[in-house]
Amino acid sequence: MPDVPSNSRRTALVTGASAGIGEAFAEHLASRGHDLVLTARRAEVLRDVAERIQRRHDVDCRVIPADLSDPDSPRRIFYELARDEIEVDVLVNNAGLGLRKTLLTQEWREVADFMEVMGVAWLHFMQLAMPPMIERGWGRVANIASLAAFAPESPGSLYSGVKAQMLTTSRGMRSAVRGTGVHVTAVCPGYTHTEFHARLGIADLAGRMPRWMWQDRDEVVAEGWRACERNRPVVVTGTVNKILRGVLAVTPAAIVERQMLKSVAAVRSRGRH
Ligand SMILES: NC(=O)c1ccc[n+]([C@@H]2O[C@H](COP(=O)([O-])OP(=O)(O)OC[C@H]3O[C@@H](n4cnc5c(N)ncnc54)[C@H](OP(=O)(O)O)[C@@H]3O)[C@@H](O)[C@H]2O)c1
Repeated sequence: MPDVPSNSRRTALVTGASAGIGEAFAEHLASRGHDLVLTARRAEVLRDVAERIQRRHDVDCRVIPADLSDPDSPRRIFYELARDEIEVDVLVNNAGLGLRKTLLTQEWREVADFMEVMGVAWLHFMQLAMPPMIERGWGRVANIASLAAFAPESPGSLYSGVKAQMLTTSRGMRSAVRGTGVHVTAVCPGYTHTEFHARLGIADLAGRMPRWMWQDRDEVVAEGWRACERNRPVVVTGTVNKILRGVLAVTPAAIVERQMLKSVAAVRSRGRH
């Protein structure tokens, strides 16, 4: 199935578009002539992003504020779009967050909300968006997973687990729609400059990671979108992350876990001197 020319008016729904990778994805798709539907919780911030993108790229840009920890949000968004006869051709499942504490210490409500956003909402979006894409014979789904999907879980965390689920399910969905004109790609960035770490309260800790480990969000988006256009099942963005993924693949899990604990301790102690 040929890729559409960059000036065709497809519509892209980007979740978590008020900041970080989602905002950059929205801008990238707009620069390729796609109209946009942007969603996230912060309505004002989202509107500012939409206005700026609209001004720069002359595309239609609709804002639908929604909290994806509410299980009804995906359905409500698609209801609003159907009412206005807007079809979703490109779906970027990007909204995400981290949990500050471990499963054993985090308040359950926050764990449940985290799981809804990270483990459920994006599946619901695929179920709502993909059948019409298949019917029309064209669609693109980019699921923003993480290099963490290939790494052992840090003690008590749920993050690598949900990203591993996204990676595996994404691959399965790609197989399910093979030959229909719909592409599904799991995009796996490593450390990326966004609001993510500050929101998690670990900006200091993240800032102590070596600079070579970091990518700009525009690099992540350009490589992620290219992979989706080429119908790649998975892309680990950036050379450093590709090397790390290769190392993770050939190193026994027990050694990786030990090394990870040592690295975290080293980064923490660097901050104390
Ligand atoms: N930054 C990294 O190093 C990194 C690395 C690998 C993977 N990732 C993944 O990349 C994706 C984007 O993260 P980012 O780094 O761009 O983080 P970010 O700058 O913090 O942006 C996160 C986005 O998700 C939205 N969001 C969070 N909770 C939400 C909720 N309950 N309902 C609706 N929207 C919600 C936020 O908007 P509102 O607050 O306005 O709702 C924001 O737009 C995430 O899935 C993350 O796991 C990030």
